[in-house]
Amino acid sequence: MNITKLFNLRFSCQSYKQLEVKDEDIEKILNDAVLAPSTNNRQPWTFAVIKNIELKNKIASMLNDKGNEQSNKAFIKTANAIKEAPTLICVFNKIVNDESISIIQSIGACIENMLLSATELGLSSLWIRATSCIEKEIEQLLDKEDEHLMACITLGYANELVHEKNRHNVKSLTKWYR
Ligand SMILES: Cc1cc2nc3c(=O)[nH]c(=O)nc-3n(C[C@H](O)[C@H](O)[C@H](O)COP(=O)(O)O)c2cc1C
Repeated sequence: MNITKLFNLRFSCQSYKQLEVKDEDIEKILNDAVLAPSTNNRQPWTFAVIKNIELKNKIASMLNDKGNEQSNKAFIKTANAIKEAPTLICVFNKIVNDESISIIQSIGACIENMLLSATELGLSSLWIRATSCIEKEIEQLLDKEDEHLMACITLGYANELVHEKNRHNVKSLTKWYR
């Protein structure tokens, strides 16, 4: 697919059909993820693929509780997206003593690859940072206490239409030096 078309088709999807995502599609997405550039090719990422409904609902429920506790509607909305999506992928930084900008940028590149790869397969996704408020609980739940949770990604078939892109005009953001 044309790359610009892919960029436009990707959107943050909050509502999913109750349709399973094929393991081979998830494998393709992860293989595309690790093609991302990383600082000194350190490849700091690891992944946890959660298809288990109980485990996924537990994470959604912990985030929903935090949302209620802190009156944070965004947490509650994100928790609902996790509950609806058939698959959740958690992305970790395995280099515990280094959370430099370079490492964070590398993991960001890897996540963007995942989202675009998913879009090409006809899947929708949501990049989630809200789960950081329960990162220790998730690390413990997934037996990943020696790594650090960076983000979670929902994956599934959208139960909503592609959102219009709402972006600032590039001209207003750019200074050229010719
Ligand atoms: C680092 C990062 C963290 C995000 N965290 C959340 C989140 O916790 N919950 C959520 O609903 N959306 C989250 N998003 C999605 C953004 O809100 C979304 O990308 C933005 O509004 C632009 O919309 P679009 O993705 O549909 O183009 C996150 C996006 C990024 C890049």
